[in-house]
Amino acid sequence: MNITVIGGGYVGLTTGICLSYVGHDVNIVEKDLAKLSALELGNLLIYEPGLDNLLQKSRSRITFSNKVNRNLLNGSELIVIAVGTPPKDDGDADLTFLHAAFEEVISCLDEDVQAVVAIKSTVPVGTNDMLAEKFGSMLLSHRVQFVSNPEFLREGHAVYDTLYPDRIVVGARDRDAVGLLREAYSPILQRSFVKPDFITDGIEKDLPYFIVTTPKSAELVKYASNAFLALKISYINEIALLCEKVGANVEDVALGMGTDSRIGRSFLNAGIGWGGSCFPKDTSALIRTSEKHGSELSIVRAAVKVNDNIKDYFVKNVESTLGDLQGKSVAVLGLSFKPDTDDVRDSPAMELVDRLVKKGAIVKATDPIALENARKVVPESDKVIYEEDVYKALEGVDCVLITTEWPQWSKLDFDRVGRIVRQKLIFDGRNCLDKEVLEGLGFIYKGVGR
Ligand code: UGA
Repeated sequence: MNITVIGGGYVGLTTGICLSYVGHDVNIVEKDLAKLSALELGNLLIYEPGLDNLLQKSRSRITFSNKVNRNLLNGSELIVIAVGTPPKDDGDADLTFLHAAFEEVISCLDEDVQAVVAIKSTVPVGTNDMLAEKFGSMLLSHRVQFVSNPEFLREGHAVYDTLYPDRIVVGARDRDAVGLLREAYSPILQRSFVKPDFITDGIEKDLPYFIVTTPKSAELVKYASNAFLALKISYINEIALLCEKVGANVEDVALGMGTDSRIGRSFLNAGIGWGGSCFPKDTSALIRTSEKHGSELSIVRAAVKVNDNIKDYFVKNVESTLGDLQGKSVAVLGLSFKPDTDDVRDSPAMELVDRLVKKGAIVKATDPIALENARKVVPESDKVIYEEDVYKALEGVDCVLITTEWPQWSKLDFDRVGRIVRQKLIFDGRNCLDKEVLEGLGFIYKGVGR
């Protein structure tokens, strides 16, 4: 099948590359010229394990262009829109890029063309209907269907999530459009593609569900899923605080709860909270949608509040142990919003750096791959020092904060760490270190609810 993907960000690139890997011919449209030339040379400019490998394997079936290629577009049965929908100041999703993408696509489509336009960008409920109404009248001589096809990929696991999804959701008004989406995804639905070598885990899972809904329901599936995952984390974080008060261990509680198949073990890891480019933006946008429609959605508001409070609690915990933070030196290990990504957008770690600096601390921060992005958000100064080498970040500090659970941290030589820090004090904001081993080495260890 010939497919055009508009947008060469995380979602567009992963979708385009994976669809070409499973056998389709894909044209990816990316406006940014610097990004485009890098892509043409095989450089993705994003850190996404395995994606460059798939790009090399399917290079002959992928083309890149910096604007919609008329010929390729008119030869495409499927046009996927995967442009960004960043948050506006009021929390609502900004649809400027989406409208621009639609205008460009519609103006390039020849008459009598038959195609399906799938919106993969995360958009508020009703957007598909609104676009169908706005642009549909311009397309009376075309047979173009608009469907909603949300994505559920996680950064750092985007290839796996695209090739081995739990479900593919299609919100459509027309049976032919559903048929076309089913055909496009058929290698993934039937798992008939060659397994990439780098994927080793999780391949035995059941084949994905193919769920057909209305466009509105599909749009809401996306927000409701992300908000639910966010509130699941906030829930365990609040239970973690209760664990500290009553002397229970949140890891045991999470295991005891999560082994109930109705609850599930995933997203019950307590810590300094959720961040990234999706949960904060999507919870805000969902709250805005609920406000516009007079629906309260108090549970999502509570999840957001808990997510903020947990950082306050963590900083207060550091303060109550170390005393006034003015002039104290603090090592921050991990700056990305989670491991396996260099993305620092709305990262809880970056938020903590900010809060610590406001309290007068001197932060020595490190991360395996996110330093460059961190520098762009919080420039290096006499208050924030970035170190490539984790042991340099640890030298002479009054305490160590684990803010992202990179596997590197549990492999540190803690004998050496104990010799170079000023105080053997560790706050594990991701509950990823071995408390007993550290206490055995003479560290004071403080996790979250542990
Ligand atoms: C999330 C969803 O998981 C994807 O399904 C969705 O497609 C994506 O947003 C999106 O909307 O594009 P992502 O933001 O990449 O994916 O990251 P997650 O792995 O979901 O983690 C989000 C945050 O929750 C991170 O800060 C992570 O550290 C935190 N988290 C996660 C916890 O604090 N505890 C957990 O148990 C799990």
